[in-house]
Amino acid sequence: MLSVLRPLLAAWLYLLVPGGQGIRRYNNGFYYQDITNGNGNGEIYFNGVRLHVESPQPSVSASRGSSVTLPCHYRYEPELNTPRRTRVKWSWLPANAIDAPASPAAIAMETEVMVAMGNRHRSYGSFRGRVRLRRSAPGDMSLVINELHLNDTGRYRCEVIDGLEDESVTVDLELRGVVFPYFSQEGRYHFNFLEAQQACEEQDATLATFEQLFTAWDEGLDWCNAGWLADGTVQYPITVPREGCGGVDLAPGLRSYGQRHRLLHRFDAFCFSASVKGTVYFLKHPLQLNFTEAVQACDNDGGQIAKVGQLYAAWRLMGLDRCDAGWLADGSVRYPIVKARANCGPVEPGVRSFGFPPPHQKFNVYCYQKTLV
Ligand SMILES: *[C@@H]1O[C@H](CO)[C@@H](O)[C@H](O)[C@H]1NC(C)=O
Ligand SMILES: *[C@@H]1O[C@H](CO)[C@@H](O)[C@H](O)[C@H]1NC(C)=O
Repeated sequence: MLSVLRPLLAAWLYLLVPGGQGIRRYNNGFYYQDITNGNGNGEIYFNGVRLHVESPQPSVSASRGSSVTLPCHYRYEPELNTPRRTRVKWSWLPANAIDAPASPAAIAMETEVMVAMGNRHRSYGSFRGRVRLRRSAPGDMSLVINELHLNDTGRYRCEVIDGLEDESVTVDLELRGVVFPYFSQEGRYHFNFLEAQQACEEQDATLATFEQLFTAWDEGLDWCNAGWLADGTVQYPITVPREGCGGVDLAPGLRSYGQRHRLLHRFDAFCFSASVKGTVYFLKHPLQLNFTEAVQACDNDGGQIAKVGQLYAAWRLMGLDRCDAGWLADGSVRYPIVKARANCGPVEPGVRSFGFPPPHQKFNVYCYQKTLV
């Protein structure tokens, strides 16, 4: 318990000091403000009254760029007539650390999102300026996060502290999106972990979490090349067991190589992307375009050549279906098929890939514009 409280000390001090009054120092070295129930010996348990912290939703799903509310309420039982001064702390365990929550690394990764006491509050890191407490009713400490980023997914903890009583509840945040396998123009199994991370980011995506890859597998993703995940493991999803992909004796599922060396080992990547505001569209040119001309053509059209993550998101989340190959920003050529049909690749829907053709070859192009076209 104390180890949980310790990181809060600095933040609380900041909140407390401006008022000044009511601060007491107990022999555990923590400052805190005790409004109604100080009994003089440093103990805060008070006659059978219990603090309950609850969330009606253990997990919440949202879209990139939108706002989301992570519900959290507290109440006392029996109800109290006198208002009490409680503190609330929202913290966050990024999705890539959830699989091993007990490990020291995961605990170190739990970071503060917001600390509030009374009407004073502070937010931290990439959440600064993007979060607030909803406070729609007494005890409502629900966290509102605006402009959701791809990497905001994970487990959020709502912790309510009344004196030394401390109760918490967690809410998982997921983003609606799409997982896609990605490999380098240099060839298969080329990325170490950091390069995989960077490659996904360059395609407007992030490395997928285990949860995201699992969901994609559950929805039918079958891919017989191993790729990095955000937690530093290397895995691949198999729906139809076969030789060379873990063998026929293994049940369908995620095949895992476990944690690999982040600098020395090289694999492909599984990236996760979600829609952004704007449009991905096919731009046709009568003579077709080499890669340089394709980049220029999107630019001339008021947009940019689309990234792979943007094409996948448009295919999966916006239903983009086009049986015409086009250049993308990484120098690959692909096209998105929602309704499989003759001469448009395999019988399943998917983003078809021609790999990375030589840049002088001629195709059309997929562009992205921030505004609706
Ligand atoms: C998360 O994404 C945002 C915007 O996409 C970026 O600014 C931030 O650095 C990322 N944070 C981490 C921890 O990767
Ligand atoms: C594409 O064609 C233009 C001429 O229209 C040429 O200048 C350019 O070098 C070509 N780019 C590639 C990669 O072949």
